[in-house]
Amino acid sequence: MKLGVFDSGLGGLLIAKAIRDRLPDLNMLYYGDTLHLPYGNRSPEAIYEYARRSMEYLFRQDCRLVVVACNTVSATALRRLQQEYLPSCPWPERRILGVVVPTLETAIERGHKKIGVLGTNHTVRSDVYRQELQKLDPEIEIVQNAAPLLVPMIENDGMPWIQPVLEHYMHPLIMAQSQCVILGCTHYSLLLDQIQNLAGQGTAILSQGEIIPGKLADYLNRHPEIAGDIGRTGEARYVVSDLTDSYKKAAESLYGGPLNIEKIQEAQ
Ligand code: DGL
Repeated sequence: MKLGVFDSGLGGLLIAKAIRDRLPDLNMLYYGDTLHLPYGNRSPEAIYEYARRSMEYLFRQDCRLVVVACNTVSATALRRLQQEYLPSCPWPERRILGVVVPTLETAIERGHKKIGVLGTNHTVRSDVYRQELQKLDPEIEIVQNAAPLLVPMIENDGMPWIQPVLEHYMHPLIMAQSQCVILGCTHYSLLLDQIQNLAGQGTAILSQGEIIPGKLADYLNRHPEIAGDIGRTGEARYVVSDLTDSYKKAAESLYGGPLNIEKIQEAQ
């Protein structure tokens, strides 16, 4: 069996790459639902439905465990996938993990008392970061801001014009004197240096590519029954639901090197 890594598109390749660097022998299948991206501005019902079909695909491909790298899905659909879809699907023993709780745990472990979050519309509107933080440590303050233009700009060669847009989105987090800024979207790691410059060196920038592999390794250590089912011959496949030349180019630049990315045959 294998580990599945799921994202609405290509941004999750940054997390897949980081997982591969940390756990290179773990067999992995990356699936990006490029046919339906971006998820960030869609309705919660559509996001759930796309995510459910994606889980079904990954489970049919023999994934024992799926890491949902996408914050939008983690925020909008994860609980329903875990509580409604999983128990009633043909593979109820499989597992689906999100990125929100491990990211907040890391912010707390690092002693941050005032947390800033930058995310897509849905991630921020869902209020999932605040709700989960409330359960972990209600004393910690949180400020969130939605940055809906960033993903479309990153995916459409808009990087040369991104600085003023980023300044606008970062402003409330800087004014609130956040001690750390969580990059609550797969794509924002690409803006890490610019965000660090805007926030200043005194503010920690938490990127999920840096956090998730270690948290996944801990999870596998705590769950040998799952870890033992996943093959360790170092195989990795990268598939998407739609593929164009510009996706291929974007995938390689996100992954940081040549990548054999394939389009899946099944209709989604
Ligand atoms: N991958 C999504 C996330 O992490 C962003 C891209 C999208 O809107 O589909 O929130």
